[in-house]
Amino acid sequence: FDPTALSDALPLPLYLQLARHLRTLIVEGRLTDQDALPGERELAETFGVSRVTVRKALRELIAEGLLHQRQGAGTFINRSPHVEQRLSTLTSFTEDIGGRGLKPDSRWLSRSAGTATPEEAMALGLRPGAEVVRLHRLRLADGTPLAIELSALPASFLPDPELVQGSLYETLRGRGHPPFRALQRLSAIRLPADQAALLGVPDGAPALYIERRTFLENGTPLEFVRSHYRGDAYDFVVELSLA
Ligand code: GLP
Repeated sequence: FDPTALSDALPLPLYLQLARHLRTLIVEGRLTDQDALPGERELAETFGVSRVTVRKALRELIAEGLLHQRQGAGTFINRSPHVEQRLSTLTSFTEDIGGRGLKPDSRWLSRSAGTATPEEAMALGLRPGAEVVRLHRLRLADGTPLAIELSALPASFLPDPELVQGSLYETLRGRGHPPFRALQRLSAIRLPADQAALLGVPDGAPALYIERRTFLENGTPLEFVRSHYRGDAYDFVVELSLA
């Protein structure tokens, strides 16, 4: 802890300065040797602030999903699997997680077949009313939920959602429709209550909303995915080169 990180001279309230300092230490992994934070009184003394200020700072970080409190036991850092995903290669969840030595898993939220919504038809280049299959899955690593993914595929490539047992991309490759290229858009959001609950984080916790359109080698759209990735569990890494 760096008590000099806080200053009355800054235009930011002290509790937000303290929250910012603790957040940096947590997300940069500089508190990895300890799971519990010092008590409120100790933090207040260390930083020369009131316990009210400490409490407000901790409340901020709890709301962001970085900390949790256990009655009578103290304040703890939320440890979650941390996954780095390259943005320049087309990989599946199963590959991303398995490649980190973690066990990928899915829980079905729903699977169905039906007619494409206007948004799906447009994303997949289908005629209105064309058949699609939808896979709605909670994706887990070593049992911890990391993402919610809703994939829609033209029924011509995947006639029955029951065909997918483990990896969707494996299934598609096995059926002779290997994903070849994808276009992906990422935006920062706060999770609505129902999704936050599924991911085991507080309401409004930060997340990345990711839309992906995947294509076959011949350019035919294969998959339209809308997903929510926990903001505290993913680093997206991209290599840049001169244009
Ligand atoms: C990633 C992508 C999804 C894709 C999924 C397939 O998570 N963001 O767009 O649908 O991989 O994963 P799997 O083959 O493990 O089912």
